[in-house]
Amino acid sequence: MTNKKTSVWIDTDPGHDDAMAILLLAQNPLVEILGISTVFGNASLPKVTRNARYILDLANRNDIPLFAGAEQPLFRDQIYANIHGESGFDGVALIEATPVTVDEAQSAMITAIKNANAPLTILALGPLTNIAKLFTARPDLVKRVQRLIIMGGAIAVPGNKNRVAEFNVFCDPEAAEIVFNTIIPKTLIPLDPCTPVVLTDQNIASLPNGTVGTTLKRALASYVKNIDTFEGIHGALMYDPIAAYFLLNPSAFETQPMDVRVETTSKGLTYGMTIAERRTIAERTLNMDVVTKVDEKRFVLAFLEAIHNMDAQKRSM
Ligand code: RIB
Ligand code: CA
Repeated sequence: MTNKKTSVWIDTDPGHDDAMAILLLAQNPLVEILGISTVFGNASLPKVTRNARYILDLANRNDIPLFAGAEQPLFRDQIYANIHGESGFDGVALIEATPVTVDEAQSAMITAIKNANAPLTILALGPLTNIAKLFTARPDLVKRVQRLIIMGGAIAVPGNKNRVAEFNVFCDPEAAEIVFNTIIPKTLIPLDPCTPVVLTDQNIASLPNGTVGTTLKRALASYVKNIDTFEGIHGALMYDPIAAYFLLNPSAFETQPMDVRVETTSKGLTYGMTIAERRTIAERTLNMDVVTKVDEKRFVLAFLEAIHNMDAQKRSM
């Protein structure tokens, strides 16, 4: 990352990994978080919005504006995750979720994009419903977005929500197809490079004993247990923090330009599958850069250091 500030809007469905992505960016002085919009996904809209507020409180970053977005997919029925628990952020004490103003995020995102005085990146960590609605309503704004970084999809690996589909895309395949077809420069971080990267028990034990580290250890105890139960993987999956890390240090990643589409017509086994044209001779419309590799060691080190820095900053206040 150069030493100039990066402006970013985060669209998210916290979610333990979303929480870690927000913490990673919130503590970085070279990142200006213009705002956070929430979207249904890991839990209902009121719950993920409550969770986002909790995380901003934990990070002492209530200066970052927070807006509720979509409460349901564009067309399909709603599905939920299981690894984040009933609250969407199990393992910590949360206040009761209260009703939110659905879609208030739309006008906030439009204002932020129009008023951005530096090139703006959007980091999408949940279902793409808010982003699809935004650029359907205001296609004129696509040229004002420098890059859209998306955690989602699965290219050459199985899905994590069913045989073929990754959760964020499967939550709203039609929204993903709309976003994939915009001309915004896009970087996709699919399951392929993410699934092998987990925080180990040792990594988690090395988190600091300040408020952030202690809270994270409690939340991750629940997250790791659910991942063991539902995914048969041991460790804390780091999908969203990896996507956030791309913003901080793209040199730690390898990418490949691809033509990626979403299956939205079949409502059967392949519904929500992300399909890349990988034949060498076929005609392709390259619509995104796809991350194929991440430097796992650099990422894990950067994440652990960020949490230590955040607790050290809190202690010095
Ligand atoms: O498939 C992983 C994605 O779905 C992550 O963003 C996780 O938070 C869930 O939203
Ligand atoms: Ca997420």
